[in-house]
Amino acid sequence: MPLIKEFIAEHEAVYNLSGDIRRALEQFDIDTARAQVADIQQQLHAHWAGEEQGLFTVMREDPECADYIDALEAEHRDMTAVLSGADLMTAEGREQVLASLASLWPHIEKEEDGLFPMSLTTLSGEQWTAAIDAWERVHGRPVRR
Ligand SMILES: [Fe+2]
Repeated sequence: MPLIKEFIAEHEAVYNLSGDIRRALEQFDIDTARAQVADIQQQLHAHWAGEEQGLFTVMREDPECADYIDALEAEHRDMTAVLSGADLMTAEGREQVLASLASLWPHIEKEEDGLFPMSLTTLSGEQWTAAIDAWERVHGRPVRR
């Protein structure tokens, strides 16, 4: 499913960037870390909009998925708050960012091992079209096929 491939590619990109940020913070290279945090925020913003406005919206039509999706969206909100609010000049702010980035992979695993496989077996053609349309609207380009 091409849309799922796009999501997984986005996960890889943000996960790699999170490693770069961790290394920059460990070396107290705050300027680099700050630029990278701005970059990951931008990437996550687009990635999460693509998920929430499309795939998550159509999966929410199944009441059994609603709680699961609420929890994933709450994690999006939490990470957004930390990444936009943390002061990298302070040890506390750096700790907050590192802790938030450490939660990224477990979050991604919930999608890749739970939600995505479930979507492949449950969504209708119409729902896939809606999910893909939303992703394309957010990203301003077609899904790669
Ligand atoms: Fe995701």
